[in-house]
Amino acid sequence: MRKNIVAGNWKMNKNLQEGLDFAGELQTVLNGKKINCDVVICTPFIHLALINKQKTGNTVKLGAQNCADKVSGAYTGEVSAAMVASTGAQYVILGHSERRAYYGETNAILKEKVKLALENNLIPIFCIGEVLEEREAGKQNQVVKTQIEEALFELSAEDFGKIVLAYEPVWAIGTGKTATPDQAQEMHAFIRQTLVAKYGEKIANDTSILYGGSANAKNAKELFSNPDVDGGLIGGASLTVEAFMPIIEAF
Ligand code: 13P
Repeated sequence: MRKNIVAGNWKMNKNLQEGLDFAGELQTVLNGKKINCDVVICTPFIHLALINKQKTGNTVKLGAQNCADKVSGAYTGEVSAAMVASTGAQYVILGHSERRAYYGETNAILKEKVKLALENNLIPIFCIGEVLEEREAGKQNQVVKTQIEEALFELSAEDFGKIVLAYEPVWAIGTGKTATPDQAQEMHAFIRQTLVAKYGEKIANDTSILYGGSANAKNAKELFSNPDVDGGLIGGASLTVEAFMPIIEAF
């Protein structure tokens, strides 16, 4: 059966010391608590190896927020999937709408990144979602379907089975305007149906589909109570342990 996951996406926040402090504090708070979901923190690259060294056990899992679409070589400033894996990270966010919008990441580029992530045993948290104009035009399902088809549907069933999806409506990210639980459930159910049609019931039912976009302590419980919402990808509310813990405890 699919896992429930609460993942924090720090984006470009926290210097090294702040990141280490946060990770230490989160681990302390989680220790001894019964938690009903996997907890992941997706940090900037520079934090990964040191947080991994500092942490004990696997209560808090680590992820990167991106990796290169090339294996290695003369790509100044890039960080490869193999490098991410060598830090001890287990996850990598790919296709975040901020990467798509500000860094020109297309579905074709993302297809390469997903392939390399999987080859290096990283679990992609693959983000999909429509912008406001697309929703207002009623095109959200088609947009999300195309993102999935173009970046992921050449994967074998075995490889697809390793992917985590995150539905993040762009109009809800950092805006305080959360999708309603019904809007989230409707889209997540549509995504799962799309997976059923391509990979069959078993893989579709085993795929975790997270919601992201202004999720917080107040709305997490209601969002997560939907049958097809298997957790959250949390931005702003993942930056302090006080804000992040109630989201983890919403399961
Ligand atoms: P916010 O939770 O800050 O809206 O960000 C969501 C997000 O983009 C997570 O990847």
